[in-house]
Order: sequence, then C-alpha cells, then structure tokens
Amino acid sequence: MKKILILNGPNLNFLGIREPGIYGSDTMDDCLSKLQEHFQGVTLEAFQSNSEGGLIDRLQATIADGTEGVVFNAGAYTHTSLALADCIRSLRVPVVEVHISNVYAREEIRHRSLIAPACKGVISGFGLGSYRLAVEALLMEA
Ligand code: DQA
Repeated sequence: MKKILILNGPNLNFLGIREPGIYGSDTMDDCLSKLQEHFQGVTLEAFQSNSEGGLIDRLQATIADGTEGVVFNAGAYTHTSLALADCIRSLRVPVVEVHISNVYAREEIRHRSLIAPACKGVISGFGLGSYRLAVEALLMEA
C-alpha cells in the first residue's frame, strides 16, 4: 500500500488546544510528521474538515486519486452520521476508524458508532498512537 489518506473530522484541527486532559498537548501537525517519519515508504496525505460534506467529498475523491486506504477519525460525526457511513460503504478502499480517546470509557453517547459497521476495523484509546496502529493495520491488510 503506497498511498494512505489520514482524514480528520470536526475539531481535530484544535488538537493541542482542545481538552488536553483527554486529547493530549500534541498538535495534528506533530502527529503527522511523526507518522510520516515512521512510515517512510508510504505517502501519507492529510485532510481535515469541520463539515460533514467536506469529509464526504474527500472520501468520494478516493475513487480516482490513487488512495489505497483511509485512516478516519470522524470526531463527533462518528456517533451521528449515517451519510458518512453510506459514503464509506460506497468506496473501493478499506477505511479504519480511529479515536484518540477510548470512546468506550467515556459518555454512553460515544459508545455508538454509525460508521464502524462500514469500516474494516476500529482502533480507539491509544492517544495519537491510534493513528500509527491504524496505518499498521492497513499495511498488514495490503
Ligand atoms: C474522538 C472521540 C469523539 O467522541 C469526539 O467527538 C472527538 C474525538 C477521539 O479521537 O477520541 O471529536 O473521535
């Protein structure tokens, strides 16, 4: 697998600022540069949107842009978005759902994921390490 999309949903552009007790103090840029350093043979392309439509547009674009797998943190849309679940089901590439926090150790509303049944698998609770584990999972799969 040569090209993986790291896709982040709402409020993940605020990592480092946002609830550091839950999400830590590193930014998404810190995470992405560490990831790229770790996986040197793979092109990791990053995209973030605070809107559901922006995420759907980027996912749909994987049909024609050479992306072979997607690591997706849908943020709060995880728990609400049938539109994202439908979109993931229409793709040709595997999608791994990730969460920085352990969503099952948090409020009950976060225990439900509408997108998980459409994804290859789910990784939750390993801090920014969740992204690294998700890339590993995609590479194992390839
Ligand atoms: C999150 C967990 C979600 O419940 C929350 O809405 C987020 C971040 C995580 O990475 O832990 O925005 O996806």
